[in-house]
Amino acid sequence: MRISKPNELFIRIWNRWAVGFFLIAALLGVTMRAFYIVEIPVLEYRHILHTHSHLALLGWGFMMLMGTMIFELEGKASYGEKYGWLFIALLISLLGMLFSFPVQGYGVVSITFSTLFVLISYALIFKLWKTLGQKEYTLGIRLIRWSLIGYLISTLGLWALGPVTATLGRMHELYFMTIQWFLHFQLNAWFVLGTLGMIVFFAEKRGIKILLSSFQQGLLIGSVFLTFALAITWAKPSPIFFWINSLAVIIQALAYYILLQKVLKTLPRLFPQPFTKMLILLALGSLVAKAFLQVLLVFPEVAVISYTIRMYVIGFLHLVMLGAMTFGIVGLAMEEGRLPSTLSSKIGWSLILGGFLGTELLLFGQGTLVWMQLGYLSWYHLGLFVFSVLFPLGLALSFISLFSGPYVQNQSFLKYPNSNQLNVETMKKVMIWSLGIVAMLMTSCGGGSESQSSSSESGSPAAEAAAPVADPKGIGEIKSVDLGPGVNATLADQGKAIVDMKCTACHQLNDKRLVGPGFQGVTNRRRPEWIMNMITNVDVMLDQDPEAQKLLEECLTRMPNQNISMNDARGILEFMRKNDEEKAGQRDAAVK
Ligand code: HEC
Repeated sequence: MRISKPNELFIRIWNRWAVGFFLIAALLGVTMRAFYIVEIPVLEYRHILHTHSHLALLGWGFMMLMGTMIFELEGKASYGEKYGWLFIALLISLLGMLFSFPVQGYGVVSITFSTLFVLISYALIFKLWKTLGQKEYTLGIRLIRWSLIGYLISTLGLWALGPVTATLGRMHELYFMTIQWFLHFQLNAWFVLGTLGMIVFFAEKRGIKILLSSFQQGLLIGSVFLTFALAITWAKPSPIFFWINSLAVIIQALAYYILLQKVLKTLPRLFPQPFTKMLILLALGSLVAKAFLQVLLVFPEVAVISYTIRMYVIGFLHLVMLGAMTFGIVGLAMEEGRLPSTLSSKIGWSLILGGFLGTELLLFGQGTLVWMQLGYLSWYHLGLFVFSVLFPLGLALSFISLFSGPYVQNQSFLKYPNSNQLNVETMKKVMIWSLGIVAMLMTSCGGGSESQSSSSESGSPAAEAAAPVADPKGIGEIKSVDLGPGVNATLADQGKAIVDMKCTACHQLNDKRLVGPGFQGVTNRRRPEWIMNMITNVDVMLDQDPEAQKLLEECLTRMPNQNISMNDARGILEFMRKNDEEKAGQRDAAVK
């Protein structure tokens, strides 16, 4: 199909922004990993994390998938006329998030821009939906529709977040579940069904029909809803929901198998270029890996580690976002000439691929070591950092390649000698306007982001009441600890095992700071209750306990909640006492 010149410009500009946001998200990702190996001043880890995830999910993921849907489905319509304003509004909301999240984390400004984004995305979906209605009701179209429905369903979680936080607070199960709801439907419906739908539709456009019976379609789509049961068991263990999930992950694996097998057969005809074929295969492979990992959840032991070990959680998220969605959609866009298939572009995407494989292996490998209680690889954080650097490198190359010459050598479209100049001009204008508007909006909020963020962070009324008085015992369930006369060696050994596994990535046993303070002398500085509350109730402590907050200000990294049980925390305390006796020459000075 020939693409008109204005439409080609629109595609180019759209994709430059999408890849640009991906590049920034990757830089932020590398920054986060740097937190584990060097001391990073000024920046707050959690704020960087929020910026990273919003840009990756919305700036890159949403824009790229939505763009691909528009460009594949709209046919001859003028994209600029139909979607131009929404596109600019989308950019403003994304830039707003980019500039507010690093400063205030979740705060008034960043939440306003995120809400704006959701509203604009509704408008985009509404327009696309009308176009979909005019199409023949094929499997591709059906999957795309379900992915859009999944997107809408996922955002229900976002609307619920405000009321839930205000009435129940951030520690409540429902808060956790609303976030899971959003992520679950984003990943499994919007991104996975969307990518599959686009590949199937791509085949249909070339006259290759991929067919599933309505029963098989039911399995594929039904499993998306049923697998949410897992998130419910995370928040509140329940055998029924556990079994629902077990059944659903098996149904899902079956449905993937049936569909992917059919898709695989068409690949040689659909993707004559070896590079794009490889990208598509990688995307499909990622889906297989995803389904396999989820099947493992039928074992209760695995179901527990799936959320206690963070590396798995991040690895899984990246598997879907980078493996399945990114490589699938980029493969399609390259085959269609919407992303360049020039050498520098291919090198760029190969670097990203290398970064993806390296970081996934490390995340899952280290996660498994932790699970087997074998401790950390000494070079884990450094290795992760080095592989992560491949992302911004590759993306910078791909980004630059979006500005040079024709994207495809031998095809008649996408080949306009002057298009670049025009593009850059339009881009500049859009950029200047967007930045101007963002700046206005941000300054009109009085710049008081700090105070706003802190008051919205500690959401619940109880939080505000508790804040002023410093309790030397900290905040949490532990009100008193019976230390006994000496150090209980057995207990201390149990504690040491957990410290080796879950703490030494950030804490040393001497008095030197790594990410967090060294453990030496901690029982002389802090009461045992405070230490145990810090370990078992870390989120609340960091939000409300003045001493913990001081530490947070010094360390600029939030200690993660690692679901340490009371017994384990007691063992850790005992180990700390032993450590102090040996290293500091005295222990428990804080209670003497
Ligand atoms: C990802 C890094 C990280 C991990 C892993 C980690 N911590 Fe921390 N920890 C910190 C940081 C950073 C602080 C300082 C407070 C803050 O900024 O959150 C801290 C503070 C503490 C404190 C208070 C120290 C003091 O001097 O008052 C204790 C106690 C503690 N951590 C125990 C643990 C235990 C026990 C584990 C393992 C179960 C652990 N931490 C795992 C990063 C970490």
